[in-house]
Amino acid sequence: SPSDPDLVERARAAKAKLGDKVFVLGHHYQRDEVIQFADVTGDSFKLARDAAARPEAEYIVFCGVHFMAESADILTSDDQKVVLPDLAAGCSMADMATAEQVAECWDVLTEAGVAEQVVPVSYMNSSADIKAFTGRHGGTICTSSNARRALEWAFEQGEKVLFLPDQHLGRNTAVRDMGMSLEDCVLYNPHKPNGGLTAEQLRDAKMILWRGHCSVHGRFSLESVEDVRARIPGVNVLVHPECRHEVVAAADHVGSTEYIIKALEAAPAGSKWAIGTELNLVRRLANRFAPEGKEIVFLDKTVCFCSTMNRIDLPHLVWTLESLAEGKLVNRIEVDEETEAYAKLALERMLALP
Ligand code: 13P
Ligand code: SF4
Repeated sequence: SPSDPDLVERARAAKAKLGDKVFVLGHHYQRDEVIQFADVTGDSFKLARDAAARPEAEYIVFCGVHFMAESADILTSDDQKVVLPDLAAGCSMADMATAEQVAECWDVLTEAGVAEQVVPVSYMNSSADIKAFTGRHGGTICTSSNARRALEWAFEQGEKVLFLPDQHLGRNTAVRDMGMSLEDCVLYNPHKPNGGLTAEQLRDAKMILWRGHCSVHGRFSLESVEDVRARIPGVNVLVHPECRHEVVAAADHVGSTEYIIKALEAAPAGSKWAIGTELNLVRRLANRFAPEGKEIVFLDKTVCFCSTMNRIDLPHLVWTLESLAEGKLVNRIEVDEETEAYAKLALERMLALP
């Protein structure tokens, strides 16, 4: 949707008034009307790294979802305030692993006699509580751009990995990138007693995958890959690793949002691409690269936006910036001290990965 010129002007004026006091971060899945005001854009790894890039900024306005804002709070100094323009911008995947469920899972692993061999690896897309659990048990955080390195590191520390909450990123990385077999992976279902697994299954497994998924990427199917290949001869299929295993296995290239952008920047004129990730990003890339003669289509006509990413819209951004410009702190995201200390351990292990 075209941005309302009045709101664009108000956002510009409020941001100018705030000057160096505000630093706006924007995830690649944000709407065009919002991303135009970001000082930095990126995938979740880049944004975690860049959050601390402006220590002089009093406010960090995070245009993304809740877990990203929490991570930014953890990684920045205590006097910097992280603000999420709409508090309802959560992530359905992150919500699939609660602190209680994960504590219970650890009890199940202990009971089965395997906990000592297990290193937790948690996807960035998780609450600060889950990150703290990970740090407390010697594990690391990963994103879609460093999951392989995180798993390699984890298997140097222990024999098994508990990967949470995205089963697909865990499975895809283990099988596609690291040569494990599907049989090396078991699925822990937090809604079943003992995760639906026997002690023997837990003892035999290398990867214990949490039964979580992304509702947006989970909708791409093998059929969508086959259809697009039939429709567009010579098309390159490029998907995000949050897609299901059979989709990733049928694709030509797999990578994070930042990887997707770089791949399209490097693509030759005349090449054709079908992209399996969130629609705001795919549409922006299709428009950006059309003049260079690169044809970019969305992998599946029925899959749409990430509804929570989309909650951050121009009216929310204007309200946030104008409030801050008037000295009114709104929608602060603040992780409590103890959670922060352990979560930071896990995040710093990720930032230190080779
Ligand atoms: P990346 O930006 O790390 O690829 O992650 C995608 C995502 O789903 C963020 O919520
Ligand atoms: Fe969460 Fe999926 Fe949306 Fe990313 S795209 S924020 S994983 S629901």
